[in-house]
Amino acid sequence: MLIVHASQLLTVPGPPQRGTRLGDLGIIPDGALRIIAGRVAAVGKSADLLRAYPQDEILDAGGRVVMPGLVDPHTHLLWAGDRAAEFEMRLQGKTYLEILQAGGGILSTVRATRAASVEALVEENRPRLLRALKHGTTTIEVKTGYGLETQAELRMLEAILRLDAELPLDIIPTFLGAHAIPPEWRDDPDGYTAHLCNEMLPAVAAWWQEHAPARPLPCVDVFCETGAFTLAQSRRILETAKGLGFPLKIHADEFDNLGGAALAAELGAISADHLVATSQADIEALAASETVAVGLPCTPFGLAEAHYTPAKAILEANGLLSLATDCNPGTAWCESMQFAIALGCRYMKLTPAQAIAAATINAAAAIGRSDSLGSLEPGKQADLLILEVADYRHLGYRFGGNLVDTVVKGGEIVCE
Ligand code: NIG
Ligand code: FE
Repeated sequence: MLIVHASQLLTVPGPPQRGTRLGDLGIIPDGALRIIAGRVAAVGKSADLLRAYPQDEILDAGGRVVMPGLVDPHTHLLWAGDRAAEFEMRLQGKTYLEILQAGGGILSTVRATRAASVEALVEENRPRLLRALKHGTTTIEVKTGYGLETQAELRMLEAILRLDAELPLDIIPTFLGAHAIPPEWRDDPDGYTAHLCNEMLPAVAAWWQEHAPARPLPCVDVFCETGAFTLAQSRRILETAKGLGFPLKIHADEFDNLGGAALAAELGAISADHLVATSQADIEALAASETVAVGLPCTPFGLAEAHYTPAKAILEANGLLSLATDCNPGTAWCESMQFAIALGCRYMKLTPAQAIAAATINAAAAIGRSDSLGSLEPGKQADLLILEVADYRHLGYRFGGNLVDTVVKGGEIVCE
């Protein structure tokens, strides 16, 4: 298939765009793209590709933007239950961590998720994933973390793998057994940490060997935060996970600067996420590493807070910055990476070009997939979007709607 007459073909060239290189969209005006066997075979000017491949089936983009599919590298999109009442409590003055400490928040979703079967999880979460796809997300990371005991966590992993097999978008699982201290371990967080290290992580590794041996191991993530896991507990969990061969991620500095970002850099984590309260020294440690900094602007927006990930400081330190939705029932129920881009432009002061690169090639790096996803270059998976607009800057500029006209995944039109 040959897609022709893109007003702007955004190739967003790799490697992942570090520091002030962020925002190189590699635009080809009146661009064209050739797909063979689900992969990008060539990109160039429409006139040149039409001349070179006269036999190809043509898809005319009609003077609109063609760009890589969006990659959402941080979500908690799989859950059961409802937290609308908590939203109201927060509007009335309770904080997110107060609600968690009183047994609500993540723990309320844990009660509902523990009670749900794999089938119920699949049914309840399919519409969320389809909304993400319609909004242009072609690859999405989804975390466990609402089971917080081995069997419930494994049910979440199984539901994620079933949805991945069923739906056109690629779903990349992450194990977040360290999302909160579960109620039965409330008075013994070190005990839960030991249980995670000694029982749960080996159980996940064994389950994976049995159920998904052909896939790379999922990442292991930790919520390193006041009221969740301390820096020492986070280190213990991540070091154990690393020893078992798991790639690492961390929730760091969402509310308090505990040092999770520097820990991520030290341990060679794939990403460190949130990074709102991060110190300058930790930003520099992160920037000197291969760990991707993931900004989640839907979260402070969802909590009506004033502080966002300091993108400028991260880029000036030459860090690798990406964007994600953090889609979750507590702080940010948002399936749209377009909305994360719009917020990133306003509150992280990114240009639309920077936000788009952060949501494609750099987001692919944040899940360890930038070799195959995130840009439209020969050899990459043909995951792409045709927008309704002719100028890419409408992404970021406009918000609350959906500018995606067509979604192509692995060379097939999956959404029109
Ligand atoms: O990324 N930070 C922890 N986890 C989520 C919130 C999850 C929830 O409240 O259910 C977050 O903000
Ligand atoms: Fe999160």
